[in-house]
Amino acid sequence: MLLRLLVPSFARVLLWASAAQRAACGSIGSRAALPATQIYKYPDDTFVENLHVLPSGHVLLSTFKSGNLSSINPSVSNPTPQHVVTLDGATGLTGITEIPATAGTLYAVTGGIHTGFGFQYGSLSVYVVLIVPLNGKPCGLVVNKIPFPDTAMMNGLAAIPSNPTIVLSADSLGGRVLRTNILTRQVDVAFSDPALGAGGNPIMPLGVNGIKIKGNYLYFTNSGQGTYARVQIDSFGNKVGPVQVLATLPAPASMTYAYDDFDFDRCGNAHISLHDYDVVRVTPAGAQSLIAGGLAASPLLESPTAVAAARDGNSIFVTTGGNYTATPPTGGQLLKTCCVTCTQSQTVAAKTRHCT
Ligand SMILES: *[C@@H]1O[C@H](CO)[C@@H](O)[C@H](O)[C@H]1NC(C)=O
Ligand SMILES: *[C@@H]1O[C@H](CO)[C@@H](O)[C@H](O)[C@H]1NC(C)=O
Repeated sequence: MLLRLLVPSFARVLLWASAAQRAACGSIGSRAALPATQIYKYPDDTFVENLHVLPSGHVLLSTFKSGNLSSINPSVSNPTPQHVVTLDGATGLTGITEIPATAGTLYAVTGGIHTGFGFQYGSLSVYVVLIVPLNGKPCGLVVNKIPFPDTAMMNGLAAIPSNPTIVLSADSLGGRVLRTNILTRQVDVAFSDPALGAGGNPIMPLGVNGIKIKGNYLYFTNSGQGTYARVQIDSFGNKVGPVQVLATLPAPASMTYAYDDFDFDRCGNAHISLHDYDVVRVTPAGAQSLIAGGLAASPLLESPTAVAAARDGNSIFVTTGGNYTATPPTGGQLLKTCCVTCTQSQTVAAKTRHCT
């Protein structure tokens, strides 16, 4: 998540700085960006922070507007957000992850009392939510609320596939991976590492942002350091190997030039939201290219915050924060791009993985 950290005049200086950076760097390859269709745009200043695609195809959305989890059905025309559940005690929500081995019924969501600079210290919790279809739309019930006392940030969230009781959360301000056991309600710090901090970046003070777990690795983006990296973990979320950087932003990160959350496609590529206008793809070999957005895109992707592969494997959903430097501020979006293509070898690899 990129937070509304800045007073408007400072933001304008940063917009200028980022335009200069953009002109100076060309090493994110610009292939033809995929077209994106806008599914919904909030009519007010709602900042959409994260998303998760349910088995039904409905898309869960978390925002900084309230503790309400919403859903949108992208397969009907002109859909509007539907109320799923209210997470009591939260005024803003962040990460969403499915709890493995629960047949798509249990989810963890993080949230707390949102402030301009993150969250009120000690206000964050992991909410365990049961979500089932009811009358054609997702309906939620909070079954557990586990406070995480010692942090001002829980950002990207990921369950450990081999251990369905543990979820890991990115503390972007503390440079740590936080661990919550949703069964025993125990919370602690799984690990901290300099690669998870903002690296002393004075204008982009967020470190680890999006996290995903695949195989024995935790993959993550770091907003302040401009890195996409991975680290080997065990089934409890402990770090058991060195951090390996897989891709780096070609110029220093700022408030308007920073990686946010990401997801994998069916071919194993990471699709990373990149403020202020882009989604970039990073192949398993680390090659980086613009996949959607750009300044010429119509509609513009206004501050992409997160990405999720669609269930059809063919397209990706993108959420955005909207434009908080515009007067009046404009709302976040849900968009869908088409179409994900794999190289021959990636297709084979994906199929092999799928069948084993
Ligand atoms: C959150 O949901 C509750 C219950 O449906 C509703 O009363 C409230 O207006 C919602 N808040 C926002 C900001 O949408
Ligand atoms: C937001 O609006 C400002 C002022 O209109 C504009 O300069 C800027 O490019 C916009 N940013 C995004 C991400 O659309």
